[in-house]
Amino acid sequence: MNLQQELTQRLARAIAAAFPDASDAEPMVTAAQNPQFGDYQANCAMGLSKRLKSNPRAIAQSIVAALDAGDLIDEPTIAGPGFINMRLRPEFLERQAAAVGADERLGLPVAETPRTVVVDFSSPNTCKPMHIGHVRSMVIGDAICRLLRLLGHRVVADNHLGDWGTQFGLLIVGFRMFGHEVPERDDPLLRLVEIYKRAHAAAEADETVRDQARAELARLHAGDQENYRQWQQYCRWSMEHFNQIYRRMDVHFDETLGESFYNDLLPGVVDELAAAGLARPSEGAMCVFWDDDSLPPLLVRKKDGAFLYATTDLATLKYRRDRWHPDEIVYLTDARQQLHFRQIFSVAERWGVAEGMRLRHVWFGTILGPDGTPLKTRSGDLVELADVLDEAERRAVEVVREKTPDLDDAEAGEIARAVGLGAIKYADLSQNRQSDFVFDWDKMLSMQGNTAPYLQYAYARIRSIFRKGAESGCRPGETGVSVAEPAERALALKLLQWPEAVAAAGDDYRMNLICNYLYELSSVFTSFYESCPVLKSEPAQRDSRLQLCDLTSRVLKTGLDVLGIQVLERM
Ligand code: ARG
Repeated sequence: MNLQQELTQRLARAIAAAFPDASDAEPMVTAAQNPQFGDYQANCAMGLSKRLKSNPRAIAQSIVAALDAGDLIDEPTIAGPGFINMRLRPEFLERQAAAVGADERLGLPVAETPRTVVVDFSSPNTCKPMHIGHVRSMVIGDAICRLLRLLGHRVVADNHLGDWGTQFGLLIVGFRMFGHEVPERDDPLLRLVEIYKRAHAAAEADETVRDQARAELARLHAGDQENYRQWQQYCRWSMEHFNQIYRRMDVHFDETLGESFYNDLLPGVVDELAAAGLARPSEGAMCVFWDDDSLPPLLVRKKDGAFLYATTDLATLKYRRDRWHPDEIVYLTDARQQLHFRQIFSVAERWGVAEGMRLRHVWFGTILGPDGTPLKTRSGDLVELADVLDEAERRAVEVVREKTPDLDDAEAGEIARAVGLGAIKYADLSQNRQSDFVFDWDKMLSMQGNTAPYLQYAYARIRSIFRKGAESGCRPGETGVSVAEPAERALALKLLQWPEAVAAAGDDYRMNLICNYLYELSSVFTSFYESCPVLKSEPAQRDSRLQLCDLTSRVLKTGLDVLGIQVLERM
């Protein structure tokens, strides 16, 4: 149980004892914003006052009188209209900090009932290079997987590739027409894109090219061997390109099944939906309707017999249910697919394939350029992700060299990767995911403020304390932790709140809450480090402070690891 939960439980008991008729009331315990008022506050007295028709301060007093928490906190105070302010006892903080220091999990509980969660993320469409817009699904999805695994859940990281689009007909024709003209490239996908551009232009100008493309697509769908071979080749090239990015970004999947994998299941899905009375014919097509008009109709088979994105998602859902028996499926896409997933989830429920399963669409906003519109190159294309990553590394070397000029090239390269890619991930994860945000190199690579380099630097600085300490033979000792100084107290408290930050982030997959916590931890650590000498203090104090340093570095490392960001021993 984390501190907030522990205090909540104690207060709940006090409420039940003082007001048996209101024993279901929420204690409403939150961490205090202002340390002047203590560490935590309970805000339940105001709500109870309405219910019990009595003065909130008097209610707060009765709760405090019934509260049995003397082992955790000093006597609470009552402030304003009836806030109950609580301050943890120093002995309690000291004991807990030492206990967490000895705990490999840093106080984080393991899920009592591990859940199986399928996380559908990244899921790019093949035959197009990844651009900056692909970052969010990849980075947020990967962090969600890491967070769930840390909590002890079973995760299936599933890359639902868009590999069954309508572009293949044109590609097959394009290869025939332009394949010999377009030179080979290191990245074959970029050659494919060039051929596609030419084929597209040719089809615009000439109707027979369009007809040929349609015929080749139909042949592919009918199982033509040669076209199938071509299609496989394009998907392989796409995958090579994607994998290179995933490797660089340290993003991993347990399962990579494209839309094509579910293709054979689609007719059966439509039949089942029809048999269940959910889908019915509409002008030659098949559509799912909501009789209460709560959602617009969902097309599942076109007049020409073609199936749709939605049909594939329904087949995929059923397949995943049978394959993994998940407790939850999480889908990451941008905000524009909200209606799509509302429809899919609602159909799944009515169809009966979502039983006992939580379905969640975790959506996010757009990455914008400095002018507030989606990031584009001068020629109007979206900025290619590989180029963004190159630039991140280049800029990171400059930033790091400024601080530490004597780095050798190998070390500078390693640091650049960790800092550059970390900065990109963190810039994304530290936002409220539902907001759009402006991609700003200077801001994300700044050594000051809520950025990855700031956190990585805080970590590296602690490691350097230990390197220096080791030279004179000291390491974090076994004597107790002391929180006599206010800065020590603040740091110990923050460290004990790590499980609260993880729990809050896990509730609605809000990685920015982890970022905020790590940033606050680093700030509290900086104040501590400025006011409390570590290696130069006398032995007992040094020992305690080294323990706080050690714990800080471990929480930072674990936290950054959840975000998919590497730490460095020196920077
Ligand atoms: N390929 C889709 C796109 O690029 C995203 C797929 C998301 N996952 C899903 N099961 N629909 O927009």
